[in-house]
Amino acid sequence: MGGKVPLKRSSQLIELSYVSKASRQMNLIDLVHLFDVSYKWNLDHEITGVLFYENGMFAQTLEGCEDDVMEVWSKIGQDNRHQILRKLNYSPSNQRRYPNWALRFYQGDLIAKYMPQIGKVLDGLPSHDHELLEIMRSVEELA
Ligand SMILES: Cc1cc2nc3c(=O)[nH]c(=O)nc-3n(C[C@H](O)[C@H](O)[C@H](O)COP(=O)(O)O)c2cc1C
Repeated sequence: MGGKVPLKRSSQLIELSYVSKASRQMNLIDLVHLFDVSYKWNLDHEITGVLFYENGMFAQTLEGCEDDVMEVWSKIGQDNRHQILRKLNYSPSNQRRYPNWALRFYQGDLIAKYMPQIGKVLDGLPSHDHELLEIMRSVEELA
């Protein structure tokens, strides 16, 4: 008796948001490729969230169980497609904001249509953190 108890994965739901500057301008093919790989991984790991790309800047919110969010955050941190990665928020949550989106991607026309004001605050400056998070969260109503 007394076999090893397997390590329990943390099932706490976590919400993580960051902003980053792309290391180079991303064209449509780059973005489609990035989206494709990310979407599939998120789907397999029950990660949900949104990704914005505007003016050479990314902003993303990821939600899922803690271990998975930390795993994808670590991959993102090592990804050379961006620089100056800055965390905006990391918090436990009880409910997903984007339950139906493994990764909803906004750029170009969709940004112009739904959140034209994001361009002004998507600059990676701490003084804009609050406003940026508010805009990112406002898209949950579009679900
Ligand atoms: C702005 C940005 C957002 C990303 N978002 C995700 C994501 O939501 N999920 C994901 O699996 N990978 C995401 N990635 C890609 C990862 O950094 C990584 O390239 C990809 O998961 C493949 O990693 P692997 O080859 O180690 O499996 C993102 C990359 C960038 C630059």
